[in-house]
Amino acid sequence: GLWGHVTQKYFRYKGINFPMMLYSEQGLQEVENEFQVRDDDIFNVTYQKSGTVWMLEILSLIRSNGDPSWCRTVPNWDRGPWYETNLGLQRARGNESPRIISSHLPVQLFAKSFFQSKAKVLYTVRNPKDVLVSLHHFAQIFRPYKEPGQLDEFLEEFLKGDVPFGSWFDHVKGWLSLRGHENFFWISYEELQQDLRGSVERICRFLGRELDTQALDAVVENTSFQAMKQNKMSNFSLSPRFILDQRKSSFLRKGISGDWKNHLTTAQSEAFDRIYQEQMRGLDLTFPWDE
Ligand code: A3P
Repeated sequence: GLWGHVTQKYFRYKGINFPMMLYSEQGLQEVENEFQVRDDDIFNVTYQKSGTVWMLEILSLIRSNGDPSWCRTVPNWDRGPWYETNLGLQRARGNESPRIISSHLPVQLFAKSFFQSKAKVLYTVRNPKDVLVSLHHFAQIFRPYKEPGQLDEFLEEFLKGDVPFGSWFDHVKGWLSLRGHENFFWISYEELQQDLRGSVERICRFLGRELDTQALDAVVENTSFQAMKQNKMSNFSLSPRFILDQRKSSFLRKGISGDWKNHLTTAQSEAFDRIYQEQMRGLDLTFPWDE
């Protein structure tokens, strides 16, 4: 394919890898310094593979009061564009308020105007071992990414932060430093999975939205893994094969917690734990996977 021969797939921007195919230094600078955040913007922020499109679907359905027609007619990347991508930035600028904007940016690269605004951020975290496994599969089908080697090698790159968007640890610690701010809400993929309905209710409370029982039912129903897998506006079947080739694996791959146990050896898991302990020391937080 067009980009198959390109060996240098990433450029570094402020110490972080970005795929050349979708991002540019100029775009990243514009996002950081010029992008105009509106007070009613809702940001869907994650480290990649932590449930971004799931949260995007939840926010889309809340925005339309449970009516699934928007989600069934408009691709998710237009409903909640990733504003750090070249195309997403254009799209985000043109979207009507209240906007939903997705992002994988680490907090230090986020739009400066956000910090002077009343806009809201929802940050979703996921067990990093599951993120690693999900990303290892994803990197094999997503053309802008480097073809990953074996999991062993990829594990090392992941732990060093030598992957797009940098280190999982830095991302999570950076964003969670906003804990306690009234415009910041965080939740885990694992909580969404254990109690989707309760999670949607908490999200609505944070957004100041009241949904009646029927609307709430509709949000829950349309954001299940099965429903999303069947929705061509949410399962990326509309993205061209030179960007995403879903013949080997799917974007909506398994949708479970703990799949890492099927992939990591005991030695790999223990090596992961050692770095995790070291990196997360001092962060006064217990995640569902720590228990
Ligand atoms: P798996 O590869 O483990 O299946 P992101 O959107 O941040 O790229 O994250 C993608 C991951 O979220 C994939 O994980 C995908 O299957 C999972 N996911 C997406 N929608 C989901 C849903 N409704 N329920 C459970 N998991 C979902």
